[in-house]
Amino acid sequence: MGLSSKHLLGIKDLTKEDIQLILFTATQFKEVLQRPVKKVPSLRDVTIVNLFFENSTRTRFSFELAEKRVSADVINFAASNSSAAKGETLLDTVNNILSMKVDMVVMRHSASGAPYFLSQHIDAAIVNAGDGINEHPTQALLDAYSMQEKTGRLEGLKVAIIGDIMHSRVALSNIYLLKKMHAEVMVAGPPTLIPKYIKEAFDINVTYDIKEALNWCDVANVLRIQLERQNQPLFSSLREYNIAYGIKRSLLDSLKKEIVIMHPGPINRGVELDSDVADGPYSIILNQVENGVAVRMAVLYLLSGQS
Ligand code: CP
Repeated sequence: MGLSSKHLLGIKDLTKEDIQLILFTATQFKEVLQRPVKKVPSLRDVTIVNLFFENSTRTRFSFELAEKRVSADVINFAASNSSAAKGETLLDTVNNILSMKVDMVVMRHSASGAPYFLSQHIDAAIVNAGDGINEHPTQALLDAYSMQEKTGRLEGLKVAIIGDIMHSRVALSNIYLLKKMHAEVMVAGPPTLIPKYIKEAFDINVTYDIKEALNWCDVANVLRIQLERQNQPLFSSLREYNIAYGIKRSLLDSLKKEIVIMHPGPINRGVELDSDVADGPYSIILNQVENGVAVRMAVLYLLSGQS
């Protein structure tokens, strides 16, 4: 049993069976993480490089911890303190690292398609840790794992993705995954932050009304406004965004129903989420981070061919 693909470039390329296998394998690894000795020898003698050309806290640490938990040898690369800062190309950087006999590459890059480009030029297995506004597949997998763990299902689950859909790789990977697993999806946010084609392209619901989205959904996955990817003003101010689209505790309490609040991080508190929501009883945000390690252990294990 293995994945249908040599790389994890995006959820778009995975089958439903691939996703089920990753989520099942993650359950086994989550059990390992509850033990006093949280380490297994599954990837002993496998060397993995973490290539981060863009900032990260959760994904970078989560991959590194996952790699260490499965006993891989790990090297870390940050563009800011490497020869990439002296003008070296991506391919030269990677080929130099691979000549040191590296087996797998985990890569984050600000350019959409960078992991795909790499996959055309090198033999090592590549895991996309987020590329531009394209995909963030391991985030969608850990989100799905967390939704399933909390609610017991993905099929038929109503998931609202709220916020800056236009610039979000998390939104796109979540939409691909949830549709493959037969969940129902709604996107919500200001009209300027939701692509016009999205309803027809993905057969999902669209609303510009936050209350409609929250009333409809079982799970709300709330996204950050990605100001670093916007080169023109798309809404009046962060304060007005919070008034119109910020998730407030009083709003959730007024729904009088069970609802799960998720966020991939980093959170802009007081913009898309108020602190008493992020830290309150509706939130499973830190469970998502915890589950990320088990999900990444599963992805690395399955792509390493050790299964
Ligand atoms: N969710 C996520 O990708 O967070 P980081 O940017 O901190 O890795």
